Amino acid sequence: MPVGIGFIGCGGIHRAHAPHVVEHPDAFIACAMDVSEEAVAKHQEDYGTECGTTDLDELLAHEDVQAVIVCTPTGYHPDQVVAAAEAGKHIFCEKPMAMTVAEAERMAQACEDNGVIFQVGFVRHFCNEWLKLREIIQDGAIGRPVVWRSVSGGSGAPTPWFFDRKIGGGPFIDGAVHNYDFARFTFGDATRVCANLRNMKTTGDAWDTGTAVVDFESGDQLIMCWSWGLPGYGSDVRADGAHDILGPEGAIIFAGDGTLEVRRKDETEIVEFEPDTGADWFRRQMAHFVECVRTGEQPDVGAREGIEATRIAEAILSIGDEPAVMEL
Ligand SMILES: NC(=O)c1ccc[n+]([C@@H]2O[C@H](COP(=O)([O-])OP(=O)(O)OC[C@H]3O[C@@H](n4cnc5c(N)ncnc54)[C@H](O)[C@@H]3O)[C@@H](O)[C@H]2O)c1
Repeated sequence: MPVGIGFIGCGGIHRAHAPHVVEHPDAFIACAMDVSEEAVAKHQEDYGTECGTTDLDELLAHEDVQAVIVCTPTGYHPDQVVAAAEAGKHIFCEKPMAMTVAEAERMAQACEDNGVIFQVGFVRHFCNEWLKLREIIQDGAIGRPVVWRSVSGGSGAPTPWFFDRKIGGGPFIDGAVHNYDFARFTFGDATRVCANLRNMKTTGDAWDTGTAVVDFESGDQLIMCWSWGLPGYGSDVRADGAHDILGPEGAIIFAGDGTLEVRRKDETEIVEFEPDTGADWFRRQMAHFVECVRTGEQPDVGAREGIEATRIAEAILSIGDEPAVMEL
């Protein structure tokens, strides 16, 4: 029997998942739910889903819904995931798993208690470029420990809830959680963080701009200098961004043309990988979830990954509230 999937939330990111459920030979969209009638109607029109509702209980009571994909604002994930787990549904939950570790642990416990599968949407685990980067760092291409620098500036996410401290939290949880997770996947557990955050936008109360540093027990370090504080929302104003990795024997540069460059003294090595697109990552991610639902295996990217990335985010945001600094 194909896996019947229910969408909880039919906004932006659900559009990255829905086509891969529709195309999957062993899955189908059984029902779609959103608090917005308009979003439900648009989903039904675009993906041909018969069942649409604005009532979560109705979706969870639907007998064809075996699993759910949670694509709502982050602060709403915990109650929805717990309700889905208690209804016996397997769960794919978008990242960040939750706004706090306590909430993420409550979700994990509900999944464990009810024997359901839980996957979190850290899509970089399905991306050739990021996986190749991890492989060459771990193979010692530039020595260890390394410093991963990530600089990014723009107007931020398109809908206002992303800038609400309680349910969205701004870039240092929402966007950067991909970095926390991938750094942890590559380096191991984090040991400490420091941060200096501020607000450039006058709308929303979440920190939208700043710098955070995460140290890992391996000695590796992640430095993020990020802003969603530029004017507008979505892609209105963008500054230049950069990712690179510095190590004692060289640097790894994202060349942006389907290669990674490893620069060492007197030589530059071009590292190739099979080029793929965002659609490929999301397709593989969904295929992994459907496979896990069918086999009963817990996904490779599950509650532990979600909780640990949330732990780093929560610590950075709490420093933003109470900065520990040396006054000059
Ligand atoms: N994997 C990624 O790279 C990625 C990218 C973007 C967003 N996300 C994550 O996906 C989640 C959703 O983000 P988005 O960009 O789709 O946001 P969005 O604002 O585009 O869509 C959110 C949708 O949820 C609906 N909604 C709000 N409250 C609801 C409720 N209580 N019950 C049901 N529906 C409700 C809204 O009406 C809207 O349609 C967030 O956690 C976000 O961080 C992940």
